[in-house]
Amino acid sequence: MKIFAIRHGQTDWNVQGIMQGNTDIELNETGLAQAEEAAKTIGGHGIDLIISSPLKRALKTAEMLNKVLNCPIICDDALRERGFGDYEGMAISQIRGMVKMDPEYFDKTGSGEGHGVEPMTELLGRVGRLLDGIREKYPDRTVLLVTHGGTMRAISSYFRGEEASEEPVAGNCQLVEFDWDKSTAGKAEEKNMSIRELVIKSRSCRAYDESYRMTEQDLRELIELARFAPTSGNQQALKFYISWEKDEVDAIAKFTHWGKDRPYPGINPSAFVLIIQDTDIDRREWSWWREAGIAAQTILLGAAERDLNGLMIGSFDNGPLRELVGLKENHKLLLVLAIGKGTERAVAEDLQPGDEKSVYRDENGVTHVKKRTLDELILKRA
Ligand SMILES: Cc1cc2nc3c(=O)[nH]c(=O)nc-3n(C[C@H](O)[C@H](O)[C@H](O)COP(=O)(O)O)c2cc1C
Repeated sequence: MKIFAIRHGQTDWNVQGIMQGNTDIELNETGLAQAEEAAKTIGGHGIDLIISSPLKRALKTAEMLNKVLNCPIICDDALRERGFGDYEGMAISQIRGMVKMDPEYFDKTGSGEGHGVEPMTELLGRVGRLLDGIREKYPDRTVLLVTHGGTMRAISSYFRGEEASEEPVAGNCQLVEFDWDKSTAGKAEEKNMSIRELVIKSRSCRAYDESYRMTEQDLRELIELARFAPTSGNQQALKFYISWEKDEVDAIAKFTHWGKDRPYPGINPSAFVLIIQDTDIDRREWSWWREAGIAAQTILLGAAERDLNGLMIGSFDNGPLRELVGLKENHKLLLVLAIGKGTERAVAEDLQPGDEKSVYRDENGVTHVKKRTLDELILKRA
């Protein structure tokens, strides 16, 4: 199955080599002619839905192509150009003289140095969420994305798995074809991720995309994994309360305590799983916590395999939370799991001697989680 993307026609700023970003520049005469030319051949691809950046240069291109396609046009902010903050309106040659123009630099500039450049991770995140959504919502449609140079690079990175670079993917009004079936994005399952990769990927996540919703069935599939986890004396005393409806999820979030000042509205997860000991089945307190840990990690590895993120939460308001979900006397609430589509990036690194903090967020919003080295973990005979 195919999806198409096209970059807008030429603008005066393209000709003058000026950084546009989210500055709303219109097509010039050549740009209009390019769109007219592209319209002549666009009809043969079976396109029946256009999703366009709302910026004028893209939307005008979309409208001109639609004179032939005659299909619905949806505007989506996720297809806007990457924001280049203070650099918008400046000549690219001038910017090159001032800063290194690689994506990494702009990441740092984006949040660290206050120039308002959208970090690359955010661009990749919004484009990735849009494409995940299109795949889910429009499985039977052939979609044309009308967008910009930087955004095209992020789309290409989603489908082809390579790092988004500064190399142009398309000229003005150049149509590019991507194949959903060859996409490396989506489920880790399809990428054949090893257990090592899944464990490393499943870092604690404390900011989520609330628009991503999970279903009862999604959660049942994750709990099904925990069903096969080992349990002392094969007692199987763990029970699970699953919550996926937004109102209840938001209510549960208020009774959980996350690192720093989170959670707060806008970044709540899509679901919670409450891990509960049924003390009528097993009263032995020593077994509770370890089995909860085994179940929690099994569930979160399953989430990572589905390209989701999660957080184990041991710090919660026990009384109010029990009351909210109606737990009985024999239900001991052990651990809460948050699950959803993460919007923050976390990386695991070796803890070096002298490192002051084992977890910190850098100026780009990336969380660094320092792990003790293997040599430190493995004891030698005294
Ligand atoms: C049993 C358990 C309870 C935890 N409770 C909380 C919690 O209440 N709030 C929180 O923000 N993080 C909690 N965490 C997450 C840890 O802070 C996190 O695992 C640690 O910082 C290492 O980060 P990583 O998971 O990315 O390796 C908990 C983790 C475990 C294993």
